Amino acid sequence: MSKPLSERYQQALRTLESIDQAQVFRFYEQLNDQQRDQLLTQVENIDWPEVARLVETHVKRTPALNLPKNVQPAPYYPCQPTSELKPRYQQARSLGEQLIREGKVAAFIVAGGQGTRLGWDGPKGTFPATPIRKLSLFGCFAEYLIALNIRFGVSIPWYVMTSLVNDADTRAFFAAQNYFGLNRQDVFIFPQAMMPAMDMATAKVLLADRDSLALSPNGHGGSLKALHTSGALKDMAQRGIEQISYVQVDNPIVRVVDPLFLGLHALDSAQMSSKMLPKCEPFEKLGNFCLINGQVTVIEYSNLPQELAVQRLDNGDLRFRAGSIALHAIRVDFVRKLNEAPGGFALPFNRAEKKVPFVDLQTGEMVSPQKPNAIKLETFVFDALPMAQTSIIYETSRDDEFAPIKNATAPGAVDSPATSTAMQIDRARTWLRQAGVEVADDAVVEIKATTALYPEDLRQVKLPKSIGPGEIVLL
Ligand code: UTP
Repeated sequence: MSKPLSERYQQALRTLESIDQAQVFRFYEQLNDQQRDQLLTQVENIDWPEVARLVETHVKRTPALNLPKNVQPAPYYPCQPTSELKPRYQQARSLGEQLIREGKVAAFIVAGGQGTRLGWDGPKGTFPATPIRKLSLFGCFAEYLIALNIRFGVSIPWYVMTSLVNDADTRAFFAAQNYFGLNRQDVFIFPQAMMPAMDMATAKVLLADRDSLALSPNGHGGSLKALHTSGALKDMAQRGIEQISYVQVDNPIVRVVDPLFLGLHALDSAQMSSKMLPKCEPFEKLGNFCLINGQVTVIEYSNLPQELAVQRLDNGDLRFRAGSIALHAIRVDFVRKLNEAPGGFALPFNRAEKKVPFVDLQTGEMVSPQKPNAIKLETFVFDALPMAQTSIIYETSRDDEFAPIKNATAPGAVDSPATSTAMQIDRARTWLRQAGVEVADDAVVEIKATTALYPEDLRQVKLPKSIGPGEIVLL
């Protein structure tokens, strides 16, 4: 039996009064029971002592950035192995393939974000991403997994993290798509935790409605806790999963599970590893892989001192060259240890000033602010990297693996559906040309993951001799 509303209300009120946040119950008396239940459920799911602490450290003031003096660039495995590294790469690829074949690898997509920049009406994973079929982002990842499942004779379990803002819609989409033909029992969807937004001037938690807190997901760093609280880690243990392949929802050409990367990570007994891209300019908006006291650490592009960002090596390469694209290999027992540590674990929170619509407590009217009025707090998954004893970085190729969809298409917009589509088509044309097909520069080509995961897979495929100007070809 759940507790009566009045009891829940009294308990929640005591907690909120003790931290001076009882204004969230301003309209409680006017709500019906269903609305009261909704508001109380939201309140009960927030870690209020943590909120109270963060109000002091991150809302009432901006925390100082203490960058240590001895920041070094982090070493990485190059995309193409040197002759010395070739045997290691071969060994790594075999090991990665073996881990997949033995059912020890899970795919993990973090899809709890709000996707505000894209402005798509629905979970970002439902966005039609490919050039010809307009396959959704979730559809792209599912197809990649299906291709791997066929290749390795397995059914790779797929964990999808959502949040309150898109959980129901995501589940409905998967159901409507019949789980893309994957085994239903191998898809595990779970929500991450939420964090209330606070007024910048008063540090008070805002209401999104009379019966609702202004909540947003607590950042992709929340995934490391949510894996534990949702039971996903337990499910992984039961399945004998050892490694998690962590990817974001916004990149349709990502290698959802990459045997070479996983193998390099496993060979070095790393707990949490990353893929990187060489930055194309010193201030490209990618986090920088650095070494601080010997630990791999990501320093955000806005926090890397300018004099370091522009430094170059003798060969002209940027000294801080390795940019983070949020692809990680993570050992299951690393995530478990973090969660089971006495007193738990905490990733640092980051403060962002945002425009958050809210209910005016005096008038009860909705206000849509024209400038940032609120503080949102998020944790980032890469902040777990320094907690790993060993962490490797592997360089991937931009053309082959990075066509993100972040922003709405607009003149000059980067990382948009238009730029992603162009990159997907470019990649497909390049792969076909490598396979000996003549392809016109304006041909539109899409290659399914089930047709080829790598350019060399096209050798097994019946291909046209040429693809003429303006032709549209799906392979
Ligand atoms: P982004 O930093 O691009 O944020 O997330 P976003 O919320 O999706 O988009 P904007 O900033 O509102 O436009 C990078 C990845 O991390 C996931 C996103 O779903 C995306 O895959 N993410 C982000 C979460 O899973 N939870 C979060 O709280 C934040």
